[in-house]
Amino acid sequence: MHPLALAASVLALSHCALAGKVCSRPPEVLFATIDVNKSVYDVGEEIEYTCRPGFVPNSGQRKYTCLPTGKWPLNTLLCLPKRCPTPGPLQHGKIDFTDFHYQSSISFSCEPGYNLIGTRTSQCMADGKWSGTLPQCQPVTCAPPSLSEFGVLSYRRVKPGNISYFLDTITFECMPPLALIGNETATCMANGSWSSIPECKVVTCPTPTGIENGFIEFAVRRTYHYNESVSFGCQPSYVLDGPKHSRCENTGNWSTKPTCKGPCKIPVKKAVVLYNGEKKRVQNDLKEGIRHGEIISFFCKNKEKSCAYTVAVPCVDGNLTLPACFKERGFFSTLVKKDPSDMKPCEDQA
Ligand SMILES: *[C@@H]1O[C@H](CO)[C@@H](O)[C@H](O)[C@H]1NC(C)=O
Ligand SMILES: *[C@@H]1O[C@H](CO)[C@@H](O)[C@H](O)[C@H]1NC(C)=O
Ligand SMILES: *[C@@H]1O[C@H](CO)[C@@H](O)[C@H](O)[C@H]1NC(C)=O
Ligand SMILES: *[C@@H]1O[C@H](CO)[C@@H](O)[C@H](O)[C@H]1NC(C)=O
Ligand SMILES: *[C@@H]1O[C@H](CO)[C@@H](O)[C@H](O)[C@H]1NC(C)=O
Ligand SMILES: *[C@@H]1O[C@H](CO)[C@@H](O)[C@H](O)[C@H]1NC(C)=O
Ligand SMILES: *[C@@H]1O[C@H](CO)[C@@H](O)[C@H](O)[C@H]1NC(C)=O
Repeated sequence: MHPLALAASVLALSHCALAGKVCSRPPEVLFATIDVNKSVYDVGEEIEYTCRPGFVPNSGQRKYTCLPTGKWPLNTLLCLPKRCPTPGPLQHGKIDFTDFHYQSSISFSCEPGYNLIGTRTSQCMADGKWSGTLPQCQPVTCAPPSLSEFGVLSYRRVKPGNISYFLDTITFECMPPLALIGNETATCMANGSWSSIPECKVVTCPTPTGIENGFIEFAVRRTYHYNESVSFGCQPSYVLDGPKHSRCENTGNWSTKPTCKGPCKIPVKKAVVLYNGEKKRVQNDLKEGIRHGEIISFFCKNKEKSCAYTVAVPCVDGNLTLPACFKERGFFSTLVKKDPSDMKPCEDQA
């Protein structure tokens, strides 16, 4: 060391010893400033830390006094970033964030079918508030559909009001006798266009063909227009099954026609049966058989208990299946044995 410098430092040391101890620069605290910032402080001098804008004291104390030992007391101050309030909610949208602290930024977005009105991002500011105002997600609107065939195709809104929003629907109608080809309803989509727009067309169906064992009522040999209908009937003793009318559909086809179901002959020569709740002799009363859909009950014998029970069978389009337990009686047995229909009924029918 240079002799002169040595002399100077000895001088400084002696000066300090004379004036007592001093504190050096106080410790730096993250995110804080000091009210009086200098390199040397006298014993008893007080300093105060302040958290920087956007930060708040979380723990520890802010004021410290230079101690007679020339040291500062242990610094305990902790400044943490302010937290902005939880943003939102954003109806029909979402908020992306990592945290809500000072200088953080959050971003807004809307669900498909909704447009963001306002700012896309916001920052947590030093005052603990979010910059700007919360944006809104407004539903997409669909312009009224442009109808090329105006006057033929019309539509109405399902919900009242002049404006169609995302997911609103409209229903179309064609002027009779034109047929609507396509989807009758359209939905306002996320991109602001209608899901589909149908067409109105002239549709004819050929002269309808008849049905087996039946006829078309008031049939006229001509082509028919969309939505015209014809009705059907069946020959005597046949039964109509299905819709009575068939309609000319927008495909140019006739809707499902009915069928005529045939009657059933009773496949026994002689028997007493139950028909409409009454005992009938097949050979006398049911020579014509029964109609499709009707039911008759045959008498069967329980030999052990010497009693009789009934089994019901339906006529299904000309088919009638005898119950397995039914025995047609020969001439001899009718003379010597009681007919099951005259026996006492079994209590618990098996
Ligand atoms: C005090 O001032 C010094 C030098 O200008 C600077 O480096 C330091 O960051 C300041 N400390 C505080 C707490 O403001
Ligand atoms: C629809 O618009 C017409 C004029 O364009 C207006 O008179 C009517 O009040 C509107 N209706 C609704 C429900 O906004
Ligand atoms: C008609 O469109 C609606 C949407 O508007 C859809 O939900 C429906 O499945 C469509 N129907 C047919 C038969 O395509
Ligand atoms: C909207 O989306 C449909 C398919 O989803 C597309 O066919 C149509 O062209 C789009 N319309 C517009 C205006 O982008
Ligand atoms: C078809 O005709 C019937 C009457 O027969 C009517 O009630 C119905 O609205 C018509 N349908 C259409 C789509 O024109
Ligand atoms: C009648 O319907 C069938 C399908 O069931 C279809 O293939 C045919 O094209 C239709 N006829 C007309 C004239 O559209
Ligand atoms: C009658 O029954 C037979 C045998 O089970 C069957 O093959 C036939 O299709 C039936 N007829 C009718 C019209 O149901």
